[in-house]
Amino acid sequence: MRDADPKPIRLVDYRPPDWLVDTVDLDIGLHPTATVIRARLGMRPNPAGREGAPIVLDGDELVLKSLALDGETLAGNAYSVTPSSLTLLAPPQRALTLEIETLLDPSANTKLMGLYRSSGTYCTQCEAEGFRRITYFPDRPDVLAVYTTRIEAEREEAPVLLGNGNKVEEGELPGTTRHFAVWHDPWPKPCYLFALVGGRLDRVGDRFVTATGRDVELGIYVEPGKAARAGYAMDALKRSMRWDEEAFGCEYDLDVFNIVAVADFNMGAMENKGLNIFNDKYVLASPETATDNDYASIEGIIAHEYFHNWTGNRITCRDWFQLCLKEGLTVFRDQEFSADQRSRPVKRIIDVRLLKAYQFTEDAGPLAHPVRPATYREINNFYTATVYEKGAEVVRMLKTLLGSEGFRNGMDLYFERHDGQAATIEDFLACFADATGTDLAQFALWYAQSGTPQLAITGEWNPAERSYRLDVEQSVPPTPGQPDKQPMVIPLALGLVGPSGEDLPLTLADGTSPAGGVLTVDAPRHSFVFRDVAERPVPSLNRGFAAPVRLASNLSSDDLVFLARHDRDPFNRFEAVQTLALGYLIEATQAVRSGRNLPEPAALIAAMGASLADPALDPAFVGQVLTVPSESDIAREIGRDVDPDAVYAARATLRRAVGTALAEPLAGAFERFAAPGPYSPDAASAGRRTLRNTCLSLLAEAGAGEGVARALGLYRAADNMTDRLQSLMTLCHHAPGQRAEVLADFYERFRDDPLVLDKWFGIQSQIPEPGTLDRVRELTGHPAFSLRNPNRVRALIGSFATGNPTQFNRADGAGYDFLADTVLGLDGSNPQLAARLLGALKSWRVLEEGRRGKAEAALRRIAGTAGLSPDVSDIVTRSLA
Ligand code: ARG
Ligand code: ZN
Repeated sequence: MRDADPKPIRLVDYRPPDWLVDTVDLDIGLHPTATVIRARLGMRPNPAGREGAPIVLDGDELVLKSLALDGETLAGNAYSVTPSSLTLLAPPQRALTLEIETLLDPSANTKLMGLYRSSGTYCTQCEAEGFRRITYFPDRPDVLAVYTTRIEAEREEAPVLLGNGNKVEEGELPGTTRHFAVWHDPWPKPCYLFALVGGRLDRVGDRFVTATGRDVELGIYVEPGKAARAGYAMDALKRSMRWDEEAFGCEYDLDVFNIVAVADFNMGAMENKGLNIFNDKYVLASPETATDNDYASIEGIIAHEYFHNWTGNRITCRDWFQLCLKEGLTVFRDQEFSADQRSRPVKRIIDVRLLKAYQFTEDAGPLAHPVRPATYREINNFYTATVYEKGAEVVRMLKTLLGSEGFRNGMDLYFERHDGQAATIEDFLACFADATGTDLAQFALWYAQSGTPQLAITGEWNPAERSYRLDVEQSVPPTPGQPDKQPMVIPLALGLVGPSGEDLPLTLADGTSPAGGVLTVDAPRHSFVFRDVAERPVPSLNRGFAAPVRLASNLSSDDLVFLARHDRDPFNRFEAVQTLALGYLIEATQAVRSGRNLPEPAALIAAMGASLADPALDPAFVGQVLTVPSESDIAREIGRDVDPDAVYAARATLRRAVGTALAEPLAGAFERFAAPGPYSPDAASAGRRTLRNTCLSLLAEAGAGEGVARALGLYRAADNMTDRLQSLMTLCHHAPGQRAEVLADFYERFRDDPLVLDKWFGIQSQIPEPGTLDRVRELTGHPAFSLRNPNRVRALIGSFATGNPTQFNRADGAGYDFLADTVLGLDGSNPQLAARLLGALKSWRVLEEGRRGKAEAALRRIAGTAGLSPDVSDIVTRSLA
């Protein structure tokens, strides 16, 4: 057991390693409960380290069997072992070989870190600090070595044996039931990229020829019988490999690229060199079992892990504070890939929705932290929306500020200069500064300051002077540990939209035009004056959501309606409707609470109706326009004294008003966009389904346009999971009479399909009615429920806590108590998952007094429990601070 409240690790304390490892030779004897690991480490003192330093290796839950230095078994007084380390007290100060034998029980590894078994398959997860659960090692990303891995196992149990790099040897062990394979990875890597797999798996194979003619063998390994569901992932992989060559000049560098899908996985997937291991949810898809969103996630995550081969693996991180160096950059890259494969505007809308839902919320609460944190207690708790999604936004801003060419030049320099290294954010930024001659010192604040910057913008037209003035004020709110902030560099992408809907030329008072329509805001206050503005324009601000900021402006609701109709920036057409909706919803929530009459959403409905009626618009886009902000979006914007029941009521009222007023066009769109042929997951077809299902849900909520009857028809006739699940959800929410029957039908159809059963659990946990908590409790006793499978836990309990605001935030606090019980029950077996679930309470302070007190009590109960993991202890401590 590690210390639950260790000293925080601080970025300023970084020191280079005292010892380096050049080669790692592993000999692994797989056994369900007694796996033997023999490691031979070729080490030498680091010239940049402290002279005469001991060798300190990390370890976690290891049994040490033997230890030898240059072939000689070491005497017991030459080293010391603690639960978390192995130290050679006075090693000779020269190149040496350490041989370490450890013993593990993969079947007992419920933390899913290190070597574990998933449905009998041996697999590994080493990022961030899992390698130390396999052997003693300097488990830090700035120690790069060349790995050779020999894996031995029962042929029966594990006919497939995979490792990093290329397979160099395989064979039988004569006279035994065992066989082996040897894998060699020529590229030096940190140990967090180590992986192995052993099991009985089916394989889907393909080939890819790289730009310079390297023939790469591709394999996707899945549980027996599921190969037919790996086709889409394989296609996405090949498209990713081509795209990375074209967009970034990055070519694959081994003869083999393998992906393995496993059912038990703490996160989404892992970019181990040449051997990506995936949560099978992000590999397996068929029209009957996967939704359009599932297909899109698979495409994005396959790309993400593949893109890590250059941004993460060839160039890795010096230390875990630099996590965003690989994650933010790689998310940016996968977002760009998906934008190129699909509709760019719709992809941006979806990404910004997620950014606001997760990152803005995180940034506004007690868990707020910089994109590059300065301190941590448990690194696993920093795989966050801030590091990933805000990290990606920062890279996008670099591109906006430097232009496509400047950005590409900076990336090229980064690959050239740092290939084979463990780099920092400073290294990364220096490449862009050097390639473009730009001073990025102030820009670097995006990595250091937490909190979402706010822009307050007032625009005023001066007809006499024929000019338009924009007064821009920026501020960054205080966040934990950062009471005062400095002004940031914010790219303000904008247009002035003239009365006929055309962009007016942007000419500043001095006669210059902002390049690419982007103003640079880098001081607390600016006044920008545009000249030759003959007619009153409407400013379209933060186009494309180029900067991840909150925006307040003096645009009237007429201005927003105008933008929704005319802005040539599709994102801002969408955003104008969202802003109108949010304004309405905040007002309506207050009205509900004070028992006043609700305002009239006429302007909003008209804007939505206009989108629906515009045949030039992409159905996927219209579907987004018709999707009003979520309950948590509304709560976050209200920001204090939130009553989730009032938020729900306001939102439902708005949806009913839309469904009633637009019943005819909604029903019309539902008919018009019916699928022309068999299911295809492409973006255009998916967009039609999004629109139809959005229409259906509005109609059903309003009790109009035969919404419920149509949903029932769609459910019964569905040839794909998107329609089946969406109609099921609509029926569960708006047709209580039909619910039991369709849920039972769904269960019978898919009872043997774990990924679909997750959806069945999830739908039930998100029904917004008082019986739901009891149902969720009851479902934890369902034979198919298990705390051991992270996907199942997230499906039932995670989606209850994050996707059902009224029931999780029950006024009696029972939702919080249930979450606390689950977290405590899970902490011993899987602390990472427990800590994630607990994150659902991070916004507790915005709640109204009664709920706030109940949530705090649940958090205090957890905090007061003895023996907490570092993971849960860290989250609960910061949540309460
Ligand atoms: N590097 C992985 C990714 O692609 C995430 C792995 C995180 N795992 C963990 N246990 N913290 O984003
Ligand atoms: Zn990643």
